[in-house]
Amino acid sequence: METQWKHTTVLLNEAVDALFTDPQAQPADAAPGMQTYVDATFGRGGHARLILSRLGPQGRLIAFDKDPDALAEATRIDDPRFSIRHQGFSHLAELPKASVAGVLLDLGISSPQVDNPSRGFSFRLDGPLDMRMDSTRGTSVAQWLETAELGTITEVIRDYGEERFAGPIAKAIVARRQERGPISTTTELAQLVADTVKTREPGQNPATRTFQAFRIFINAELEELQQALAASLDVLQPGGRLVVISFHSLEDRIVKQFIAKHSRDEYDRRAPFAAPRVMKLKALDRIKPGAAEVAANPRARSAIMRVAQRLAA
Ligand SMILES: C[S@@+](CC[C@H](N)C(=O)[O-])C[C@H]1O[C@@H](n2cnc3c(N)ncnc32)[C@H](O)[C@@H]1O
Repeated sequence: METQWKHTTVLLNEAVDALFTDPQAQPADAAPGMQTYVDATFGRGGHARLILSRLGPQGRLIAFDKDPDALAEATRIDDPRFSIRHQGFSHLAELPKASVAGVLLDLGISSPQVDNPSRGFSFRLDGPLDMRMDSTRGTSVAQWLETAELGTITEVIRDYGEERFAGPIAKAIVARRQERGPISTTTELAQLVADTVKTREPGQNPATRTFQAFRIFINAELEELQQALAASLDVLQPGGRLVVISFHSLEDRIVKQFIAKHSRDEYDRRAPFAAPRVMKLKALDRIKPGAAEVAANPRARSAIMRVAQRLAA
């Protein structure tokens, strides 16, 4: 098992504090200590271990992660209250309705994924151009780029990387494929982008946006997030908490809009006399890491945590 790469948990206490519901807000039949919580992104178990330390003897923690290395780490937790599923967190939808007191999503990738060159996430480290969170199945970025069409590559870089130079980068990828064969390593892709993108954002590697875009695409990250948020409405019991930590604006926008949409009654303008769709969430909080956390863990700098509570509707 890989042990040399560590993950420093972001907003550790803040997220777990937000997840545990106010005893006043518990439904009458949910005895304290019997609650089930979900850590949808186990990673290296930083949040999970703190949740377990606060759970009563009858409590349960169900975790999810796509990454086989995260599953290997989870075998170190010897606790009958804990279980983990090697699945995308959209499978949250399979849990019984109104059965969960809190759902935590700490989105994106873990530090071990970025720091292990063989996973192919980092433009700084030479490795195979892979980027799959679940390295046991699916298509790597290199495999996808072997046949992807110019238009698709352009859209992915533009939409998921918010990259101004999406067109020239996609053209350079296709030209390189035709001239010298497909790109197979992270370094080749990073160099090709650096050669293509002439304007650089201060302090940012020119390949940052393209790598982010390919990672989001190959792991269907935004689709999974939308499905998991929708499922959380079903599985959370009244009073239950939804806690989501995002690391870039595309994720945070989805979370913010989802909470806003379900935090108001919605009337159908075409059916003015129909009953409104009743609000299901109450937005509670928006928290960013403090200066001390960012100084100690620079990867926390872009984090935004949003907290909402499931209403009885
Ligand atoms: C930021 S890390 C979580 C770190 C964790 N909270 C900790 O304290 O160690 C994100 C984890 O979520 C996993 N992940 C990301 N998207 C996922 C998805 N759609 N389904 C399941 N796991 C996912 C990644 O594999 C990674 O291990």
